[in-house]
Amino acid sequence: MAQYSSILGTGACLPRRAVSNQELTDFLAAQGVETSADWIETRTGIKQRYFCDPDETNTTLASAAALQALKIAGRKAEQVDLIVLATSTPDQIFPSTACLVQAGIGAHHAVAFDVQAVCSGFVYALTVADAMMRAGQANNALVIGSDVFSRLMDWQDRTTCVLFGDGAGAVYLEKSTEPGILGCRLHSDGRLGHILNAKGRMEGGKIQGDPFLRMDGQSVFRQAVSVLGESALALFQSLDFQLGELDFLVPHQANVRILQAVAKKLKLSEDRVVVTVDQHGNTSAASVPLALNHALEQKLIKKGDNVLLQGVGGGFTWGSVLVRM
Ligand code: UT7
Repeated sequence: MAQYSSILGTGACLPRRAVSNQELTDFLAAQGVETSADWIETRTGIKQRYFCDPDETNTTLASAAALQALKIAGRKAEQVDLIVLATSTPDQIFPSTACLVQAGIGAHHAVAFDVQAVCSGFVYALTVADAMMRAGQANNALVIGSDVFSRLMDWQDRTTCVLFGDGAGAVYLEKSTEPGILGCRLHSDGRLGHILNAKGRMEGGKIQGDPFLRMDGQSVFRQAVSVLGESALALFQSLDFQLGELDFLVPHQANVRILQAVAKKLKLSEDRVVVTVDQHGNTSAASVPLALNHALEQKLIKKGDNVLLQGVGGGFTWGSVLVRM
């Protein structure tokens, strides 16, 4: 009896262009914005990020990540039942980026839709796909996190524009009798929408309102550390899972200091926390699947490991998924 959604393959795609802190600092200095490579690295752990060139889009990144996940799993796009794609930077208002990816990779039999939960998007999408598979609506799924946050940056705002990057990550799930996703826990609090948002909207052929990402960094920081610890412990309790059984934490990659604080709450040594924020910056919905893919490629995470995936971001939204690889 199939009871679990198991991850059979992961994939990643980063834009071609890596931008170091020094390159970004030089670019910002030319616009009259003062920062330093040292400030960025010391306060966030970020050393570089990737930015899309004009020929690279959310859809091209997401499609490449999805195809890689299918290849690792040894499956074909025509066999995919479900595509759930998390993004807050879709290429178009509609069709959804999931449908654009569906057409691009030839997954013509799939049901495809987007989920919007900003930096928590991937854990939301994974939870939705797992629930649909358990409910018998799909035997397999591609779950993708893909964002192009460089589009939302105000290059005059040094408190945000040094933090984000572009990228996509994907996992391919299939029903299995072997564990799999052990449990999911999602949370939202719309009262905190003001601490992280991008308020602009299309109307009358123009963008109305502020088109840039705005963030109260300190509030987001404090909130992230507090809710991620609580969410993990609540999920573990509901599954009767002991802290000591956890092998790896793959958290949303926003700031290495947040990752360290959450690891401390979970009594995890730093070598059990997957860190890619130094290389990718904050890639929003892509950060968790990019980090998971990296840890599997590096053979840091192995088959049988218990891994906690965690997202947190605008909404305010957060969540945890516990998975046995
Ligand atoms: O993906 C969604 C989740 N997002 C996050 O989790 C982000 C959470 N927040 C953070 O990671 C941190 O709050 C930041 C990295 C955004 C900021 O770090 P911080 O340690 O909280 O710095 P701060 O906001 O307290 O600013 C310290 C100083 C300020 O100057 P004064 O007031 O002390 O003179 C800022 O103006 O650093 C200044 N500052 C900068 N200086 C150089 C802010 N941004 C910069 C910058 N370069 N880019």
